[in-house]
Amino acid sequence: MNLSSEKRILVTGGAGFIGSNFLSLMVPRFPHWHFLNVDNLTYAGNLHSLAGIDTLHNYSFSQVDITDADAIQQVFTDYQPDWVIHFAAESHVDRSIVGPKEFIVTNILGTFNLLESCRAIWKDSDGHLFHHVSTDEVYGSLGAEGYFTELTAYDPSSPYSASKAGSDHLVRAYYRTYDLPVKITNCSNNYGPRQFPEKLIPLMILNCLERKPLPVYGDGGNVRDWLHVDDHCEAILTVAQSGRAGETYNVGGNSERTNLIVVRTICQIVAEELGVPTAEIEGLINFVTDRPGHDRRYAIDASKLSNELGWTPKWTFEDGMRNTVRWYLKNMDWVDQVRTGAYRQWLTQNYEDRESS
Ligand code: NAD
Ligand code: TYD
Repeated sequence: MNLSSEKRILVTGGAGFIGSNFLSLMVPRFPHWHFLNVDNLTYAGNLHSLAGIDTLHNYSFSQVDITDADAIQQVFTDYQPDWVIHFAAESHVDRSIVGPKEFIVTNILGTFNLLESCRAIWKDSDGHLFHHVSTDEVYGSLGAEGYFTELTAYDPSSPYSASKAGSDHLVRAYYRTYDLPVKITNCSNNYGPRQFPEKLIPLMILNCLERKPLPVYGDGGNVRDWLHVDDHCEAILTVAQSGRAGETYNVGGNSERTNLIVVRTICQIVAEELGVPTAEIEGLINFVTDRPGHDRRYAIDASKLSNELGWTPKWTFEDGMRNTVRWYLKNMDWVDQVRTGAYRQWLTQNYEDRESS
């Protein structure tokens, strides 16, 4: 560990999708900051996602479960972080429907343990930050019109979003009750490299490549506001450096698309990249039984973040999606690594025997 670092940053969940992209951007950019990645490596955490930065002098890894209060307290005592950037979570809505308990334990109890550890070691708020990475799904579903703002009432629909809502409330309570210097970002759906292939976009890309059915839930008319993961990571850095303590900032890409349009865009890009007719890939689209409690539409008003702190997304949806398809085409070894073991078993039990609607 480089003890002369200007700042010590404890990142939870850094072996997952967004955390690994965050570390891949920030570890080389800030050689005088030290980053400790705390992750217990669930099915969604993969150290292969950190190839390229894991040998850098200002990065270390510790395999610890955030639900283990004593182990987490020991990490905090030893490391004495200035900042905590908290990504670790159970993150997949479909899994939360099949088995909600882990979501409650990891997302609520795990966040509580981290907050308690901060409270135990930080004697004042000077130079300290607990940045909680959260989701727009806490706001529930929109109709055809309107946007989520930071003032929208929480109304979560799934065990995943309810557990994230619970953790957001705890984080805010620690600001109000104990003056813990917290910030929260609530972001829309991310896509990009290293996303675990159970989420819509990587699942569809890989199924296109393997000529497997493309399972579209319900009528495919549900809308998500897509944001490239690098834009999300830059937003987190911006808020961590310049946002106001105790505040929430919504993060979104202004890129609303129905799921069917997203899937068709992926089909077209994959077809172009492989030099095959688009119809051959689009023919794989398969409408399946809808997800229970499926939120119809998410759309973010990110004007607080752009007006106050000057953040705007850099990627267009089309460029970002082409870049993502190319990343998966070039990184099938990563795909093979993450698709083995426990995940394979779960996928077989929960996905591959799904009925067509
Ligand atoms: P992910 O599932 O890809 O990664 C989660 C990481 O957390 C994994 O590395 C996993 O091993 C680790 N983890 C899980 N339980 C843990 C535990 N008990 N102890 C230690 N580590 C544990 O998730 P992601 O998509 O990268 O999401 C990261 C965060 O961003 C989550 O909090 C999620 O709610 C939030 N978020 C995600 C999105 C999105 O579109 N993916 C959008 C907005 C917000
Ligand atoms: P997902 O990537 O699971 O993110 P979230 O549920 O957090 O928004 O799903 C994105 C959208 O795609 C959501 O409306 C559900 C839908 N979806 C499908 O239609 N088919 C699939 O196989 C998956 C995984 C998701």
